[in-house]
Amino acid sequence: MGSYFAVRLSIFLHWLYVFASSAAATGADLAILRSQLSPDASVSWTTSIAPRWSDYDAPKPTAIINVAVEKDVQTTIQFCNSRSIPYLVQNGAHGSSTTLGQLAHNGVIINLAALNRVTFNADKTLVSLEGGTLMSEMIQSAYSNSALVLSGTCNCIGYLGALLGGGFGYLIGQYGLMLDNVVSLNVVLASGQAISVTPSDDEDKYDESLWWAMRGAGPNFGAVTSAVVKSYPVDSNSLNAWLGPLLFEDTQLDTLIQTMNDITLEPEMAMSLTFASSGNASASPSIILTVFYHGTEAQGKAAFAPIYKIGPVADETTITAYPNWNAAQDISCVKGGNKPSFGAGLAELEAESWKAVYDAYKNFILHPEAQESVILLSAYPTAQIKSIPDASTAYPFRSTVRFNAQASLAWNDSSFDASALAFGTFCRDKWRLSSGLKENSTYINNAFGDESLTTVYGQSLGRLQDLKRIYDPHGRFNYWFPLDGN
Ligand SMILES: Cc1cc2nc3c(=O)[nH]c(=O)nc-3n(C[C@H](O)[C@H](O)[C@H](O)COP(=O)(O)OP(=O)(O)OC[C@H]3O[C@@H](n4cnc5c(N)ncnc54)[C@H](O)[C@@H]3O)c2cc1C
Ligand SMILES: *[C@@H]1O[C@H](CO)[C@@H](O)[C@H](O)[C@H]1NC(C)=O
Ligand SMILES: *[C@@H]1O[C@H](CO)[C@@H](O)[C@H](O)[C@H]1NC(C)=O
Ligand SMILES: *[C@@H]1O[C@H](CO)[C@@H](O)[C@H](O)[C@H]1NC(C)=O
Repeated sequence: MGSYFAVRLSIFLHWLYVFASSAAATGADLAILRSQLSPDASVSWTTSIAPRWSDYDAPKPTAIINVAVEKDVQTTIQFCNSRSIPYLVQNGAHGSSTTLGQLAHNGVIINLAALNRVTFNADKTLVSLEGGTLMSEMIQSAYSNSALVLSGTCNCIGYLGALLGGGFGYLIGQYGLMLDNVVSLNVVLASGQAISVTPSDDEDKYDESLWWAMRGAGPNFGAVTSAVVKSYPVDSNSLNAWLGPLLFEDTQLDTLIQTMNDITLEPEMAMSLTFASSGNASASPSIILTVFYHGTEAQGKAAFAPIYKIGPVADETTITAYPNWNAAQDISCVKGGNKPSFGAGLAELEAESWKAVYDAYKNFILHPEAQESVILLSAYPTAQIKSIPDASTAYPFRSTVRFNAQASLAWNDSSFDASALAFGTFCRDKWRLSSGLKENSTYINNAFGDESLTTVYGQSLGRLQDLKRIYDPHGRFNYWFPLDGN
């Protein structure tokens, strides 16, 4: 008992200190908020927060509200609204858009990390997940239920963070985008009202519009506290896939790009190209093509025959169980440092532009600060995505984009900022000018933050802006490519 009271006393003294050292109004406000939250919720001050994936133009809040139950999200939003305290929802903290840096310094982050319960229904066709669930938590849970769920290729991104903007992953050719698999969303709106957003046959299009808008522009409309998504029960063989890296030499790059452009991706296939430092300054950067086939090795090798024909110099493909599909990307779970991304959607690959990007990359990584920056190009089968009409979700470019290209930069020293941004811009310009698209486009989840709103929202922009005026007239959810921005 004695130590219990000692702990309480030290917490109390800590609070006194905190009130004295931060903006008075905010400190006092947050103490009141804390008293309204559930017992396991907590408020922590910025000195004690876990780092985000990227520090570049990251939000600098005054405090983090660690919610413990879904209701805490609504309580926090209602409270913040009543005191004009800005807030930003955080799931996996991998969002790197510079728009996040617009959170005012008296603002708070609503950290959903403790909301990570994942529950499957009896026949494993539906899964409910809470708003803070990470990709790895979803995959582990699906695997132990002998089911597959559309999942991104990085374990530490937020499930909903990825889903609300689209959600790309290996099973896209079979099951579609992550957002095409949503059945319902529980959302706290900017008004503080908590509602369930579902497809509705109702003649009243009010809620149905939100159903449209959330799937592509969700972070502009509310905080998703939980969701139900489709799940696919499978036999134990189908919990495996054939995947892994194939290594190529720089002399093979032209042919590789041309083949990636020409190959027909069956629904079971996916592939992604990476340029990375080889770790040897006098050698060329590594060219790694990760291939994926949801089937056997023989099926995979047959499907990727045009790629094998080029003659990879190394082949580390292997049959891999679902929980290990993303293992090679675990290196990108390391948090901190400047890691913005410059991305572009492409309808085709032009070998000449890719050669220019490769040469520029080779030169860029001669600088020691640039060593951990990579170039990424993902290709997915598009038939399943295109089978859903463009106008049925706010996710844009459904019928036009075949590839997502990205300069994923990483550096620490601010004296290197200008060089890094110039390189990212160079790559993005090259891709845009050879994209084969009429308009510039970027997958919102890979965008830097300076893109025009049509570049990230495409043909959905006008309707989204109309809905924004209805659902968030005060611009409370305004830190992820805000719809009332430029
Ligand atoms: C290393 C790496 C790998 C990636 N791999 C993939 C991939 O395989 N497939 C893919 O599609 N994308 C991928 N991405 C992009 C990824 O989808 C975005 O970075 C996404 O924003 C990450 O979401 P988060 O929850 O981790 O980030 P956060 O920073 O927590 O969230 C990003 C934005 O979404 C909002 N948000 C998050 N959760 C909610 C919620 N529950 N309700 C309302 N708003 C919410 C936040 O407020 C913020 O504005 C990757 C990114 C990185 C850095
Ligand atoms: C680095 O690359 C150069 C050029 O390819 C090669 O000659 C050298 O042996 C490599 N060094 C190491 C340590 O691998
Ligand atoms: C940046 O700093 C982190 C932490 O010290 C380190 O792990 C990383 O390698 C550094 N990155 C670069 C590009 O130097
Ligand atoms: C598209 O991108 C290119 C290259 O960045 C740029 O020159 C052009 O102005 C952009 N077009 C539009 C319509 O924004």
